[in-house]
Amino acid sequence: MSGSSHDDGRFSRRAFLGAGIGGLAVGALGGVGGTAWARSEGADAAAPSDGVPSHTAYPFYDRAHQGGIDTPQQRHAIFAAYDLTVSDPRSLQVLLARWSAAIAQFQRGRSLGAVEPTRSSAVPTDTGEAADLEPAGLTVTIGLGPGVFDDRFGLADRKPAKFGPLPALPSERLEENLTGGDLSLQACAEDPQVAYHAIRVLSRMAQGSATVRWTVMGFGRASAGKGQSTPRNLMGFKDGTRNIKSDADLASFVWHDGADQAWMKGGTYQVARKIQMHIENWDSDFIGDQQAVFGRSKQEGAPLSGAHEFDAPDFAKKGADGEPAIPATSHVALAAHENNGGLKILRRSYNFTDGMNADGQINAGLLFIAYMNDPAAFVTLQTKLGQSDRLNEYIAHVGSGVFAVPPAPASGSYVGEALFG
Ligand code: HEM
Repeated sequence: MSGSSHDDGRFSRRAFLGAGIGGLAVGALGGVGGTAWARSEGADAAAPSDGVPSHTAYPFYDRAHQGGIDTPQQRHAIFAAYDLTVSDPRSLQVLLARWSAAIAQFQRGRSLGAVEPTRSSAVPTDTGEAADLEPAGLTVTIGLGPGVFDDRFGLADRKPAKFGPLPALPSERLEENLTGGDLSLQACAEDPQVAYHAIRVLSRMAQGSATVRWTVMGFGRASAGKGQSTPRNLMGFKDGTRNIKSDADLASFVWHDGADQAWMKGGTYQVARKIQMHIENWDSDFIGDQQAVFGRSKQEGAPLSGAHEFDAPDFAKKGADGEPAIPATSHVALAAHENNGGLKILRRSYNFTDGMNADGQINAGLLFIAYMNDPAAFVTLQTKLGQSDRLNEYIAHVGSGVFAVPPAPASGSYVGEALFG
């Protein structure tokens, strides 16, 4: 994985004076929206004793890819999808430029303006709730939905050939108000208030240009505790064991080569799904069945053909009953690259919980977020999973979005600028 060296400076969050909303727009569009940040990017090798690496800061500009994709997964996330309410390219450019300049500040642990402006009649530019907090490893990733390439913005000829709304997929139960979006923001941080602050201020900056369509607040994805290196989902299983981990796989399966659209070189596609878990049903299931659903053991996370978490699954191995040790309709048997012509995706999911449903059941599940250089990879896997995955008895896909994620901007530029060139 790229991008991990130590950020050795403590960056207290302080007001980024002299950059009001108007200044950001003009600054970013005029090429002075961000100065190159010479600090090395990276995860924090020296986390404080509570385990939260609060002073980790990732640079926003001058890197190959936006943060929040191959950077180490933070504990908390807020995902938000937006509908554009403007229909001219200039307004979209201004929004992307203002968002980019603001995100660059937030990732450095800075606020957008003074918490207490000197004029008592001034409305504070920044909402203030992160004023005393450190960067907390914040990354905010901007995505562009299929709507950006419809006839509103004159960008139809910039649409990558492989990009468009996802087709209807088997067994999904998508809800209109949790689906789609012209833009996405994925804010991830070690401190939920830092992620929340970023989305809140960026949503506020979008007023008049875009409205929030759906959001999901995610948690619980950093490894925790002695000897546990893989986080667990809300079904209690380790999730991420066989995720993409090497630069070679990132190059093959995640990063866009820019062949058909140069502005996407170094970018990727983001698929977000809000997947509800039927927690009460799952919690009353036998352990044997739970393990057969995933094809892995619950405590260790080992494939049912082996003994240890990182043992390679052997899909041909038979159990004492003569049936495959890893059931053919288990989640991992259906999703594994060995059974899908070598196909892989990068998963970067979070748990979520939203209180109770109207029917009195726990409303919780997985905010599934995956990155890939062709959205067809998700369609292929989910078509198969949606048809026969044993897990389907316990889940329902209720929200969905697909977004093109441009590469990171150079300093002085903004996310997606090359699209308008
Ligand atoms: C609530 C929904 C889901 C849950 C609880 C879940 C859980 C898991 C678990 C526990 C594993 C095994 C550990 C690992 O290798 O990470 C796994 C593997 C995997 N999942 Fe999911 N998953 C869900 C949805 C999806 C979806 C929607 C996709 C893609 C369309 C997907 C793709 C994969 C892939 C590719 C693997 C790796 C399989 C392998 O190579 O062994 N999952 N998932």
